[in-house]
Order: sequence, then C-alpha cells, then structure tokens
Amino acid sequence: MRTLRDLLANNKAWAKSITENEPDFFDQLSQQQSPEYLWIGCADSRVPANQIVGLQPGDVFVHRNVANVVVHSDMNCLSVIEYAVAILKVRHIIVCGHYGCGGVNAALDNHALGLIDNWLRHLRDIRQKHDHTLAHIHDDERRLDLLCELNVVEQVQNVCSTTIVQQAWRNGQELSVHGWIYSLQNGLLQTVSPGISGPDEISEVYRIAISSSTAE
Ligand code: CO
Repeated sequence: MRTLRDLLANNKAWAKSITENEPDFFDQLSQQQSPEYLWIGCADSRVPANQIVGLQPGDVFVHRNVANVVVHSDMNCLSVIEYAVAILKVRHIIVCGHYGCGGVNAALDNHALGLIDNWLRHLRDIRQKHDHTLAHIHDDERRLDLLCELNVVEQVQNVCSTTIVQQAWRNGQELSVHGWIYSLQNGLLQTVSPGISGPDEISEVYRIAISSSTAE
C-alpha cells in the first residue's frame, strides 16, 4: 500500500493558505460554481488551464484530451460543452492548443501506434485537408507548429458547429468561441482564431485564421 504523502501534505498547506486569506472561500465555492470560461485544452502536463491564465478554482470549467480535439460523436466532450453552455452559461469557450504538441506530432508521422491511432485519425484528417500548405514547409518544427495552429482553428469550427453552441446562439445567449495557442518555451498565449460570437462570423474568422496561420 502506498500513500502520496508529499501531495497530501501540499494539499493541506494549500487549503490552509487559501482559508487564511479568504476564510469563507471554500464555503462559498461549495454552494455553487459560476465560471465564465470553458477551457478545452491538451492533456499535456505542461499546459495547466487555471495557472497559465491566473484563474482560481471556480473560474474555469475544463475539458482536456490528447491534442485538444472536439469530435462530434465524443459524448464526453459534448457533455462538458453542454453543461458549460446550457447550465453554467459560460460566456467564453477557449480552445487552447500548444506548440510542440506530442499528439499533433504523432499525427504527422505515419507510424502505427495502436489504439491512439483512432484518435489521431481526426488530426490526420486535418493534416490531409491542409496537405498542400504543409507540404511547402520544409522545416520539421515549423510544420509541426503550423499543424498545431491549424488544429486549433479547425477545433474552434467544430465547437461552433455543435448543436449546443448553435442552439445557444439561436436563443440569443451571449457566447464567444476563441482559439489560442500556448508556447511551452516562453509561457505565452497567442490568438490563432479571434472570438466568434455568432453563426454569421464563423466563415469570416475561419478565413482570417487560416490565412494568418499560413502566412509566415
Ligand atoms: Co499536446
């Protein structure tokens, strides 16, 4: 039997320091959550949602998977989006990718890896869709970074076309969908897909995002 003593000790110290600063922090937060943001990011341990945007517990609803992919038949991701949009009424959905993403890199390779190939198929489809642009880039790192950006742009489109987001917009709900990319090298975020606030903005933002991703 093993216990992760260090982590449990860290937790005690963390809870104590929060309570010292704000005695009713946990009391209040345990009553309800009303985050303004839904974060859809990569499972990579180096891209922790709350920390990199300086948000506290209760501020951001989070879904993470390998390479921040939004698939229309993924009930896990769709359930998160539905709860965030329909119940919590978040104002912003952020799809956040990161440069040097291992999942995206694996999709650039044609090696068979096993079960994950079924997941990577979604990324390989994006690679195929933008094959012409990617083929012009001879630097491996730059090609990977470009596919990381294009993946964010495409996943933003997927979020926008879910029945959940479409319905929210039809109901007049205030909701924007943003695409960001994070640099592991300097800890900074950049916008790759400016906020889409309604169905009429989807194709225009896509056009702008694709052309600025492939411009360099
Ligand atoms: Co990643």
